[in-house]
Amino acid sequence: MSQQFDVVVIGGGPGGYVAAIRAAQLGFSTACVDAFKNPEGKPSLGGTCLNVGCIPSKALLQSSENFHAIQHEFANHGITASSAKIDVAKMLERKNGIISKNAAGISFLFKKNKVANIHGLGTLKARQGEKWLIEVSDNGAVVDTLEATHVILATGSTPRQLPGVPTDNHMVLDNEGALALSAVPKRLGVIGAGVIGLEMGSVWKRLGAEVTILEAAPTFLAAADQQIAKEAFKALTKDTGLDIKLGVKIGEIKATKKHVTVNYELNGESHAVEFDKLIVSIGRVPNTAGLGADNVGLQLDERGFIAVDDHCHTNLPGIWAIGDVVRGPMLAHKASEEGVAVAERIAGQKPHVDFGVIPWVIYTSPEIAWVGKTEEQLKAEGIEYKKGTSGFGANGRALGMGHAQGTVKLLACAKTDRILGLHMIGPMVSELVSEGVVSMEFKAASEDLARIIHAHPSLSEVVHEAALAADKRALHG
Ligand code: FAD
Ligand code: NAI
Repeated sequence: MSQQFDVVVIGGGPGGYVAAIRAAQLGFSTACVDAFKNPEGKPSLGGTCLNVGCIPSKALLQSSENFHAIQHEFANHGITASSAKIDVAKMLERKNGIISKNAAGISFLFKKNKVANIHGLGTLKARQGEKWLIEVSDNGAVVDTLEATHVILATGSTPRQLPGVPTDNHMVLDNEGALALSAVPKRLGVIGAGVIGLEMGSVWKRLGAEVTILEAAPTFLAAADQQIAKEAFKALTKDTGLDIKLGVKIGEIKATKKHVTVNYELNGESHAVEFDKLIVSIGRVPNTAGLGADNVGLQLDERGFIAVDDHCHTNLPGIWAIGDVVRGPMLAHKASEEGVAVAERIAGQKPHVDFGVIPWVIYTSPEIAWVGKTEEQLKAEGIEYKKGTSGFGANGRALGMGHAQGTVKLLACAKTDRILGLHMIGPMVSELVSEGVVSMEFKAASEDLARIIHAHPSLSEVVHEAALAADKRALHG
């Protein structure tokens, strides 16, 4: 006999678990089926984001920044410490502790909201009357069958593989291996100077590795505003010390038990370089393995994403899909917002997720963050704009922190003054970008930001100054 639910969510990442909680809040009987197992073979909710993505990467970034600070920054404060050492095992233990704590937190939230927490692989089996039949299996054996009026697919993504180069997470690593290295490699190669390459490259560089990043594109961070991207390239190569090579064509890669040799071409010249470990971070692909798309005629698009309309509805009645497995940026907060929106749509509400105001953050040091259109996009779209920029160089709070480096750039419509984009590199800009998101959601003008009181001394004063500069009345510029 199948268990009956109003809503079954398949996938317990930031898309799926949030959708399940919201659906339960709205009064639906809800189950969430998730297949993830941690390295000890135990179920662990939270998906890629919590287990092998956003959260562990930020934990290691912080550890590595602390290690860097004690060696290179504390002396400026008059603090000396005798020979700093890094205990990688302890660092990983701390990271794993954060994951366990948050995963247990999601289980607690499921209990609190009466979401049935079902471990296993969820497979769409068939339509039965008005309901969908879902089979749950674990280690190849069927452990449960569920029936639901609505199904929310939130199965996430997996790392894109380089053809002919299998990741073994020993010598050739994807995100999982890059977050679990048991020792600092002497020479670390990274393929792809995207978000993972830059974040993970920064971690291991600060812990002592020589890091070379090989990037196919000729432009660094092509999706970012190029003024900020250029400043980022300089900071990450000169200050962090990453060796980033752009416009590279990767050739044969050979891994032995001790080394990985990467052949590549750059400016028409052939190179071969040997690394002790290689991270492959060349993007991610939607994960529909085991979902049973064919069993029920679920439509995928030409790139393998589950095809959805603007409301995250698939081609099948009552089946929705959200997060990394559908079009749009592969970001945890995008997945969660789609999850909330779908649950509310099932309840007959009319929520809206605006892709134009999704913030992006790259947690390097300095951090890079933006929301809205870049200057390049505005030019390409023929939109007349004005801009204001301001730096962290003279900001009192940034100086006090010892991180007085970076820029905030505000772009506003030349005619209406409405804010169209906010781009930044600098200390804690992951937090500052929220001011841009809120302003843009409220359709604020740059004058609104310029007239809002910002605390002194605070990093947010640089955003304030950028808004003043857009009207050519910066006070400190
Ligand atoms: P996922 O988090 O991938 O969760 C999907 C879940 O579904 C998994 O648990 C999977 O095991 C399970 N599953 C799959 N198929 C089935 C099935 N058939 N049955 C049952 N369960 C199934 N994003 C940010 O916004 N900020 C960051 O700082 C950030 N850092 C990142 C760092 C790294 C190293 C990586 C790899 C990603 C990072 N991301 C970040 C991206 C973020 O992790 C994803 O956008 C987010 O996890 C997508 O959420 P999701 O719920 O769609 O899918
Ligand atoms: P990415 O899309 O950010 O970067 C991949 C990079 O690899 C690109 O610059 C691309 O040009 C390059 N590339 C592709 N094929 C290549 C090849 N054959 N040779 C050399 N370079 C090649 O993807 P990444 O870093 O793997 O991350 C995946 C996704 O995870 C991101 O797009 C992002 O959505 C998410 N993420 C978000 C984070 C955040 O929000 N802070 C952190 C980490 C990941």
